[in-house]
Amino acid sequence: MDQPTAAQMERSAHPSRTILIVDDEKEIAELLVNIVEKSGHKAISCTNGETALEIVKKGGVDLLITDLKMPGMSGIELIGQTRRINNEVEIIVITGYGTMEIFLEAIRSGVSDFILKPIDMEQFIHSINRVMEKKNLTESLIARTQQLLQAEKMATVGVLSTGIAHEINNPTTFIRTNLQLMSEYIKRMESKLDNLADPKTAESVKNILLKEFPDMIRDALKGTERIQKIVSGIKHYAHMGSDSFDEDVDIREVITQTINLVRAKLRKDIVITENYLNIKEIKGHFSKLEQVFVNLLINAADAINDKMVKLKTGGDRDYRGLIDVSATVIDGDEYEGGQSPDYLILTFFDNGGGIPDNKITKVFDPFFTTKPVGVGTGLGLYICYEIIKQHGGEITVQSDPEEGTAFIIRLPVVGAVKPGQEQPQEPRQ
Ligand SMILES: Nc1ncnc2c1ncn2[C@@H]1O[C@H](COP(=O)(O)OP(=O)(O)O)[C@@H](O)[C@H]1O
Ligand SMILES: [Mg+2]
Repeated sequence: MDQPTAAQMERSAHPSRTILIVDDEKEIAELLVNIVEKSGHKAISCTNGETALEIVKKGGVDLLITDLKMPGMSGIELIGQTRRINNEVEIIVITGYGTMEIFLEAIRSGVSDFILKPIDMEQFIHSINRVMEKKNLTESLIARTQQLLQAEKMATVGVLSTGIAHEINNPTTFIRTNLQLMSEYIKRMESKLDNLADPKTAESVKNILLKEFPDMIRDALKGTERIQKIVSGIKHYAHMGSDSFDEDVDIREVITQTINLVRAKLRKDIVITENYLNIKEIKGHFSKLEQVFVNLLINAADAINDKMVKLKTGGDRDYRGLIDVSATVIDGDEYEGGQSPDYLILTFFDNGGGIPDNKITKVFDPFFTTKPVGVGTGLGLYICYEIIKQHGGEITVQSDPEEGTAFIIRLPVVGAVKPGQEQPQEPRQ
């Protein structure tokens, strides 16, 4: 099949629009429907606010054109109610009169344009086309942004796949080795089975069956567990996880799992250390937090790589790449007279090349990147910022070209149980 042309795609992305015209004078409403249809849009009309609202509720209206002064529900009321149920519908107001207050209220409700009575038809069509064009642009922009955000995520999935393959390969190898060993043992035991009357042979067979085999089976099961965990990590990451920010999250588990996934992509000589102090479970979104940590770790590794490339021509041969992840809970009891919630503070430090002062305020901006085209998208930190915000937290950065860079994340420990308020809990395994 032929690929659609850009123009065809553009058309299918913005199917013909439905315009609802509300005017208490039936003749005017019908006249306007006629004009709108001639200009290529679909139009419907009604003569009061109540009916209009019912139509809007059913959905499918792209543009509402309403008179202000109508018996029953006024235009302003209709606009307000419409906004409450639908934020996307565009609104144009037709009015024969207008006080400043009404204009202001209409503008506050997000009215796109005003048309004064008596209606100039040319101006009327021009206004509709302008508003629809704006709507098309906004929708394209939203769709494009979604695509780019997904692309950034898929890019990290690509980067991670090496790590994932490696992680799955290890346990698979030792499961295989154990199974091979077991089948060899079985062969060896075969010859001994006829000779079980001999106490020494019986002892050896017993040892194999009751000690060696259970050990091997236990190790192999551990391996399968490990594989299951990795696979569930990928499922999470590739967006098959839940959409809830209310999961009980053990931050150690998220960090360790992320480091496991990322490690194979990093240079072998980068040392990663983890420090945990006084950790509590938080409420959050496991896979989104994983996405944040993947971005931060890969950025850190890139910064270390950059520094290594520079030093090659410069000189400090003792430089070793280091990434340190630390997590600690700050007790809210000690702040604001005990009114403050508990916070989890996470620090991702790297001793890479740092961020120059004139760039540090831009790093969270979408599309800001210092990496070559095709390597950086500039969306990583923007996504981190958004995800942490969704958790009710914040992310900041400090950097020094000599020392390196630290990204600091503050997350509220929602629902944390404070000392003295503990509920009796089931013992954890
Ligand atoms: N740990 C870090 N050390 C030095 N610079 C960093 C670090 N993390 C991010 N940056 C800078 O911030 C920019 C934006 O990062 P990001 O939003 O993840 O996009 P990308 O990695 O695609 O460039 C990077 O290009 C880099 O210049
Ligand atoms: Mg990045």
